[in-house]
Amino acid sequence: MKVAVFSSKPYDNTYLTQANRERHELVFHEIALKPSSVPLAQGCTAVCCFVNDQLDAEVLNALAEQGVKLIALRCAGFNQVDLDTARALNITVARVPEYSPHAIAEHTLALILTLNRQLHRSHYRVRENDYSLNGLLGFDLYGKTVGVIGVGKIGRVFAHIMLSLGCRVVAYDPYPNEALQTEGVEYIALEELWPRADIISLHCPLTTDNYHLINAEALTKMKPGVMLINTGRGGLIDTKAVITGLKSRQVGYLGLDVYEEEGDLFFEDHSSQLLQDDVFARLLTFPNVVITGHQAFFTQEALTAISETTLENIDGFEQGDLTRLHKVE
Ligand code: NAI
Repeated sequence: MKVAVFSSKPYDNTYLTQANRERHELVFHEIALKPSSVPLAQGCTAVCCFVNDQLDAEVLNALAEQGVKLIALRCAGFNQVDLDTARALNITVARVPEYSPHAIAEHTLALILTLNRQLHRSHYRVRENDYSLNGLLGFDLYGKTVGVIGVGKIGRVFAHIMLSLGCRVVAYDPYPNEALQTEGVEYIALEELWPRADIISLHCPLTTDNYHLINAEALTKMKPGVMLINTGRGGLIDTKAVITGLKSRQVGYLGLDVYEEEGDLFFEDHSSQLLQDDVFARLLTFPNVVITGHQAFFTQEALTAISETTLENIDGFEQGDLTRLHKVE
């Protein structure tokens, strides 16, 4: 099958080519999928896309006109796809439901430790021959309460990590997991989680119901100085409300791997350009904010698994074998 791979970086080319083992014709495009790049999918039965490719009604209609029948997402989240339109156009959407929950959970811990022990600041101090400790005071994670919102594959691994550090783990998920409860995770309502957690970490998908879950009202209910971590999806946080919270010190620390307007920024080198996003620019001024550019998934193990499952999805679609296709329903 001929597949147009969009938003493709050198590492995508390497891992997908390796997983393909010359089964399909993969045509790599560094450009993101958007209305102007749709013609690059001419003659392809499938497009392979990532988190910030545009898959709204306009693009899906244009793809369908060109004969595209499969969207093979090389990510877990599918909030960027207009599923109703895809269904109406009879375009199958497949994703990679699981690749390495450890990659994201471990990156979440990295953000927590960096913020708490101020590694982002101490690294530069030492390089400046400055070994003073003023302003670098951290706290023991041991005994602290961590609130996990969304305890699926990633949230579960993250909860285990935090339990192993001696934290109390409280969680909110509409579908509590009994096994986790016996392991020490306490499921509570969101209203109870806000005031109890010292650290809140988001691991749920972005849906129409939880857009701006962390908003001005929720922030007022949290512990003063709370640490917020988002490796889920940018839209889960009302960034302007969090900036207000950072200014008043209601939010003590903010760790982000995702940002609601990341589509125009992340995965590209903009170092020779001027930053146009004033909200993002304001975030960058806070010493207690650490941002990574959607890199939580970025491990060798995850890239291998993502590529293998993506090719498996393409095989499954081509052969009409639904057992090999991780279809988004
Ligand atoms: P999953 O589907 O295994 O788990 C999601 C959990 O969230 C489920 O237990 C579900 O019941 C729960 N949930 C759904 N709506 C909720 C709500 N409104 N409030 C609380 N919980 C809710 O998904 P997985 O694999 O754990 O991934 C979670 C999210 O992490 C993905 O949807 C994606 O957005 C994000 N992600 C981020 C990556 C990164 O590189 N930063 C990489 C991979 C995923």
